[in-house]
Amino acid sequence: MPSDRATPNLQIFADAGEVARAAAERFIELARESTEARGRFSVALAGGSTPKRIYELLAGDELKTQLDWSGVHIFFGDERCVPPDHADSNYRMANEALLSRVSLPEQNVHRMRGEGDAVANARLYEDELREFFDGETWPQFDLVMLGMGDDGHTASLFPGTNALDVRTAWVTANWVEKFDTFRVTLTATAINHARHVMFIVTGASKTERLQEVLHGERDEHRLPSQLIQPDEGALTWFLDEAAAAKLKGKDEG
Ligand code: 6PG
Repeated sequence: MPSDRATPNLQIFADAGEVARAAAERFIELARESTEARGRFSVALAGGSTPKRIYELLAGDELKTQLDWSGVHIFFGDERCVPPDHADSNYRMANEALLSRVSLPEQNVHRMRGEGDAVANARLYEDELREFFDGETWPQFDLVMLGMGDDGHTASLFPGTNALDVRTAWVTANWVEKFDTFRVTLTATAINHARHVMFIVTGASKTERLQEVLHGERDEHRLPSQLIQPDEGALTWFLDEAAAAKLKGKDEG
């Protein structure tokens, strides 16, 4: 692993509310910069529960008017193998919290299919990404948003699973034994070609694992979040005090 990779920038805030606020403001900043520079903003949303507050803030009256949503393209980092109206659907969470509440052109929402065959859905989504990032060797998202599970997984890159070793595909179907199901997920290599990667991690349940991921031995198969090292892009961790409680020298960044 080249040592000149981006040193993670740790942004630590008092609580989850402040983390959500800062992450939402950074989203707007990056969206404006990208739209100015390239005429569009491509963002892969995180699933799970932590980002929901960010999405709700972005859809709130104060922030939603600060962005021209017509150039925003919404993608997903991963999806559970359920229909889009299912309670476990990342799409449903993001749609209810944000997408249905801002003036986003329908064709700008690139949903990752959870229903049906996971392998076929991964291929479909890769085709859609290759069309959007026309001619690129790897997708260069302007922003990829990620959470981290208590086990150190991110997106649907779970410890000890096959997706961790996928080096050529942009999207893959990953069998997750502990859930007895497939997940569809961006690969680490695809994520690492992003211009900006934002981890959002809050709460005491993440403290131990975060310390290991950031300051422990490198063991990507046990701690897949360690795989996220952007090649040229920036990596920022938005953390609350509770999650960051055990970080050595946590006043960095
Ligand atoms: C998912 C996510 C996953 C999530 C972590 C953290 O589909 O579940 O993409 O990677 O970010 O599991 O989840 P919480 O935010 O709920 O703790």
